[in-house]
Amino acid sequence: MEYRERHKIKDILDSTAYGSEMLVKGWVRTKRGNKNVTFLSLNDGSIIHNLQVVVDVAGFDENLLKQITTGSCIAVVGKLVESKGQEQTVEIHANDITLYGTADPETYPLQKKGHTLEFLREIAHLRPRTNTFGAVLRIRHAMAYAIHKYFNDNGFFYLHTPIITGSDAEGAGAMFHVTAMELDNIPRTPEGEADYSQDFFGKATNLTVSGQLEGELGAMALGLIYTFGPTFRAENSNTPRHLAEFWMIEPEMAFYEIKENMDLAEDFLKYLITYALEHCMPDLEFLSKMYDKELLERLRFVIENDFVRLTYTEGVEILEKSGQKFEFPVSWGVDLQSEHERYLVEQHFKRPVILTDYPREIKAFYMKQNADGKTVRAMDVLFPKIGEIIGGSQREEDYTKLKTRIGELGIPEKDMWWYLETRKFGTAPHSGFGLGFERLVLFITGMANIRDVIPFPRTPKNAEF
Ligand code: 4AD
Ligand code: MG
Repeated sequence: MEYRERHKIKDILDSTAYGSEMLVKGWVRTKRGNKNVTFLSLNDGSIIHNLQVVVDVAGFDENLLKQITTGSCIAVVGKLVESKGQEQTVEIHANDITLYGTADPETYPLQKKGHTLEFLREIAHLRPRTNTFGAVLRIRHAMAYAIHKYFNDNGFFYLHTPIITGSDAEGAGAMFHVTAMELDNIPRTPEGEADYSQDFFGKATNLTVSGQLEGELGAMALGLIYTFGPTFRAENSNTPRHLAEFWMIEPEMAFYEIKENMDLAEDFLKYLITYALEHCMPDLEFLSKMYDKELLERLRFVIENDFVRLTYTEGVEILEKSGQKFEFPVSWGVDLQSEHERYLVEQHFKRPVILTDYPREIKAFYMKQNADGKTVRAMDVLFPKIGEIIGGSQREEDYTKLKTRIGELGIPEKDMWWYLETRKFGTAPHSGFGLGFERLVLFITGMANIRDVIPFPRTPKNAEF
């Protein structure tokens, strides 16, 4: 087959250049037909829809056609023809076929349709070839692009924060240690503890749980920054909303107070949902049909309505008065569980909620302390079906208050001196938040389990692929 440019199926399906010759390459999804004609349904990942390739059996080597089965990869040169079929408007009539790779029908795991999502998790190396994961992965890409576009268009700078950190300060969750020491031969101090001074970095290091603290350093120079990178939490939470490795978007804004922080979070989320509706419709329609009939309605509803804003204290009052039996009892001071968050969003207000001013004991040390001495200027954005999608706060900018809080919590100051210096030199009011990328993709796709919106999920006892 002579060289020519490959046409993507996405473009072919839109084309009206009937009669012209095109080259298309992809994976066979289905094969049917009779002794005269074979119909191949071809997918190349560019769009959820397949292209129908019509093969006149008489014109091809019988042995070649026999080897083209579900899952095999082929290149086809053929003529674009207006289709008489119901399913599609165009098809390709093959003149020449090259077989790149066969897929033995006896052993190819995706030979049949209709596998469960649980089974597909066990073949994460092949599941991108299904309609569902094609749709999810294209939407995931579109969201990543839209995030960068939103921030770029609004004057934010993308700041790369480290993945290996020397501080264990955020307190957002258990950390994975990073070491170059041989685990079965660890150098030890005279007291018998691991001697990290002999380790690669000369100190104990971990995978980051958040880019925020370094993000704040950037905001104190560039004004508006965001991070977008992988974060790691070694918690044993086996829920449909937790991963041990997930991606987080963390904007940090000099001179923003909590109100502007909330406004940004709401505008940002609405922008992303709008972007998905404008750019991902074929995939959204497919997912809605297969998994979640109310998906499109829910997405539009979130864009069209103001988020409800209230304090944690008001939220707890509503929950206490609800008469609802929760698995975890609720009272002022407890950390809200996803059942509480979802009650507020789905039952009580029936729209997204931003809760603010949480008890300081259940929130991180860096949050701005309110005058009541009991609460901090935290904000969590709660979404239908998800619960917490964003966590953020206005930051404590007062050097003495911050230093005192760090002391109270027993956080070693030797780990935090650089962070404290932002409050010592040219401190400023500032705020930020973290959006869990997979929780966003969960919401947008209507999928039910976070393991199904990242290509290779990392969860307890699972790192095969
Ligand atoms: O609420 P979190 O822990 O906040 C922070 O890490 C702050 N440093 C953010 C900031 O203010 N810059 O996490 C933020 C978001 C959560 O709201 C949730 O969407 C997501 O990250 N998240 C997870 N997503 C998947 N798996 C996990 N284990 C997650 N933990 C948090
Ligand atoms: Mg949180």
